[in-house]
Amino acid sequence: MSVLISPSLLSADFGNLNSEIDLINESEADWLHIDVMDGVFVPNISFGFPVLEFVNRRCAKPLDVHLMIVEPQKFINEVKQIGGAIMTVHYEACTHLHRVVQQIHAAGMKAGVSLNPHTPVALLEDIIEDVDVVLLMSVNPGFGGQKFIPRILDKVRDLKAMIARRHAHALIEIDGGVNLETGRQLVEAGADALVAGSFVFHSEAPLETIARLKQL
Ligand code: DX5
Ligand code: ZN
Repeated sequence: MSVLISPSLLSADFGNLNSEIDLINESEADWLHIDVMDGVFVPNISFGFPVLEFVNRRCAKPLDVHLMIVEPQKFINEVKQIGGAIMTVHYEACTHLHRVVQQIHAAGMKAGVSLNPHTPVALLEDIIEDVDVVLLMSVNPGFGGQKFIPRILDKVRDLKAMIARRHAHALIEIDGGVNLETGRQLVEAGADALVAGSFVFHSEAPLETIARLKQL
């Protein structure tokens, strides 16, 4: 299976949202990555559900919704309503992660769990069989355009081994600082899906950039 590509809307031109979404629709992208921030869990605020309702109406690709917020369990219905296909919550934001994963499934979405760069993958040992996606942060969450943290490559390999050992089905998705070079390293290490924000939307030919990432 070729690597799944999830361009991140955070780096799009919000003044031209229609054409940015049309570009994603035309592209080989598999998902559209949506970064929701609350100014509490991360030091930034992005966009909320009224904007995402519009995005959902226009976007033909499954929405890969990454919640960088505290108490994400409060917004499961909202994420479902704006067309979330995957709802990803942070390990660090959920005291009762197992319950939240079950609630996301009950709402009819795939459940993702994200780990900040300093959070070890070993902490997923007792939940890995229940999740559909593990989103490993390869930057500190909150902003696009940051530098890739290479330590994540070892985490991908460790997580891949855990998934195989436990006969789990979770996909490994990586978020932050992805370009053709880090993307190739990530695919070699075992990543199944790559988020790319600034590398796609700030490139001269985003369609071609997505196609090249897809070929990694
Ligand atoms: C960062 C977000 C990322 C961000 C990635 O907190 O979770 O999804 O958009 O942006 P790039 O690809 O520019 O690092
Ligand atoms: Zn993200």
